[in-house]
Amino acid sequence: MNKEYILSLDQGTTSSRAILFDKRGKTINIAQKEFTQIFPKSGWVEHDAQEIWSTQVAVMTEVIAKSKLKTESIKAIGITNQRETTIVWNKKTGKPIYNAIVWQDRRTADYCKTIAEKGWDKIIQEKTGLLIDSYFSASKINWILNHVSGARGMAEKGELAFGTVDSWLVYNLTNGEKHITDVSNASRTLLFNINTLAWDDELLDIFEIPKSMLPEVCSSSEVYGETSTELGTNRIPIAGIAGDQQAALFGQLCTQKGMVKNTYGTGCFLLMNIGNKPVISRNHLVTTVAWKIGKEVNYALEGSIFIGGAVVQWLRDELGIIRKSDEIERLATSVPHTDGVYLVPAFSGLGAPHWNSQARGTLLGLSRGSNDAHIARAALESIAYQTYDILKAMEMDSKAKIQELRVDGGATSNNFLMQFQADILKTNVIRPAITETTAMGAAFLAGLAVGYWKDIEELKALWKEDKTFRYAKDKDFETQLHEWKRATDTAKYWADY
Ligand code: G3P
Repeated sequence: MNKEYILSLDQGTTSSRAILFDKRGKTINIAQKEFTQIFPKSGWVEHDAQEIWSTQVAVMTEVIAKSKLKTESIKAIGITNQRETTIVWNKKTGKPIYNAIVWQDRRTADYCKTIAEKGWDKIIQEKTGLLIDSYFSASKINWILNHVSGARGMAEKGELAFGTVDSWLVYNLTNGEKHITDVSNASRTLLFNINTLAWDDELLDIFEIPKSMLPEVCSSSEVYGETSTELGTNRIPIAGIAGDQQAALFGQLCTQKGMVKNTYGTGCFLLMNIGNKPVISRNHLVTTVAWKIGKEVNYALEGSIFIGGAVVQWLRDELGIIRKSDEIERLATSVPHTDGVYLVPAFSGLGAPHWNSQARGTLLGLSRGSNDAHIARAALESIAYQTYDILKAMEMDSKAKIQELRVDGGATSNNFLMQFQADILKTNVIRPAITETTAMGAAFLAGLAVGYWKDIEELKALWKEDKTFRYAKDKDFETQLHEWKRATDTAKYWADY
């Protein structure tokens, strides 16, 4: 019998990737292409939506060619994507009317402040699970409608379409036939009511966005359509969609209430499965839809850290104390402790649970003997401390002790960091054998929809651990955690002094 595969398209912030998986969850081939980051002004971040599409289709074609297989053997495509990034295109021509405004873009921060000042924050949090912030899509759509000549008029006539990156890819993969998104991506727009699972008219009014622009919202695992023959392949069902962090939660098989994953990338994203009912955070986290499979919806609490692995790049590129990122572990472990040095990498403010855009990077506790190794160790520890702050907020929201933390992303190869993480959390940290959890999650969602995998139980058998970092029962970190808090307070109030 010919082998069959699932193709995952992972459209991230810095690159487009395509990954082919087999039935055992094994990665058969990967293709990856970086694309241009556009910074028109300080605080602005854009992508060329056409380049997002062209790199994505290029890696998809490359991985199929590399694997030397007939496209008939690809049972389905799953899509996962950078979330919140906003694209508006002309329904008639299919061309974007402005660059994609990326999730990191802060141009609408003041506008968001005015919405909050009008007292909408409580209603918005109850409906969307989110905070009013330029991170999410709504204010970015509003900006495009108000700043691109003729856009508002066209939108009011029903001539424009909005989509997050998943929508944009499906629209192009189906040659303009489908304008859809899934619940997990919709829940990052500030326009989607996570209780009713529908676009919300009141939110559309607040952000002045015509409903006709919005995609149809689907589940995360169903056949939405097929790829167009114009792509040079046979028609492949597109059968799974989830935002990248939700896809990673699924790829980690955190399918039961209380399970938590942390992705250590440039930033870090912690998500906790909170089951079938949304819980509004009282501790500055956001509530998001994790996925919808069949009729069942799972929700998650989420905390984002803006600078995670990026602090290692900073040591490499700006301070020059390491030449390559993987040198940091050796340097950091060449000293037994930081000798009282703390680094708070609040380079672009602090994310959850602080949400302080004024905070700035802070290096504290230096003495005459402090050296590059102490700073390197403090940098790694800062990733773990920031994760600690979010995990404690999750425990307070869920009123339960977190049993284990599943981890993925580049920095998880750093054993020192993983062990330190486990020790300060007093929670075991588990690194899985398959590290492509985001792409894997999208493949799982697509595979379930077409019967490639039968059910979640079958998927659970594919998830294997590489290593468990057991926390040291005899170590106490009270003093360090207290000092870390004082350090973050200093970073937060720096701008006010
Ligand atoms: O919310 C933003 C997140 O989805 C971006 O993920 O992995 O593309 O940086 P990544």
